[in-house]
Amino acid sequence: MLCEQFRKGAMEKGHQVELVRLMELNIGFCRACDACMRNGGTCILKDDMTKVLELYQEADVLVLSTPVYFYGISAPMKTFIDRTYPIWQHLGKKEVYYIVSAGLGLDIIERSLGDLDGFVDHLEESPVAGRIYAPNVMDSGLVYNTDVYYKAYEMGFAL
Ligand SMILES: Cc1cc2nc3c(=O)[nH]c(=O)nc-3n(C[C@H](O)[C@H](O)[C@H](O)COP(=O)(O)O)c2cc1C
Repeated sequence: MLCEQFRKGAMEKGHQVELVRLMELNIGFCRACDACMRNGGTCILKDDMTKVLELYQEADVLVLSTPVYFYGISAPMKTFIDRTYPIWQHLGKKEVYYIVSAGLGLDIIERSLGDLDGFVDHLEESPVAGRIYAPNVMDSGLVYNTDVYYKAYEMGFAL
């Protein structure tokens, strides 16, 4: 819902937006075979990550969005990050945004960002330009019409 709001704002501003729902894609785990490090950056796995990497490379702005699961990011988001390994030395410059929700408090969100920060640290330039934290939302839909709901739209529109 927050990503959709961000997208709505960005599109109304005139930007082209691709919302990638990682959970609905077929993206296998990195096998740590290191083939991509030897062959110039091609993964041996042939799945939806090929297209996601293309979209990643075309994008100027990257919105990383995840719920907190057991004090960390979701498995699909971690898998996405791991599968950027073939291009980890060429992650480029992106304007990065975080959208993170959790059933419990803000402190839980803050202690769950290590994997996202670790990934963003590997970008050439990686200013985290904006953050939307949605604490206390155990059930989906609870953010509807709340402050963060409008903030997500405004952040997209401000691009
Ligand atoms: C497997 C699982 C683990 C979770 N672990 C935590 C947790 O450690 N801390 C927390 O605050 N919320 C936790 N939650 C709650 C989710 O963070 C919360 O429901 C989230 O806001 C859902 O976002 P979504 O509606 O975008 O899926 C967990 C939920 C699931 C399903």
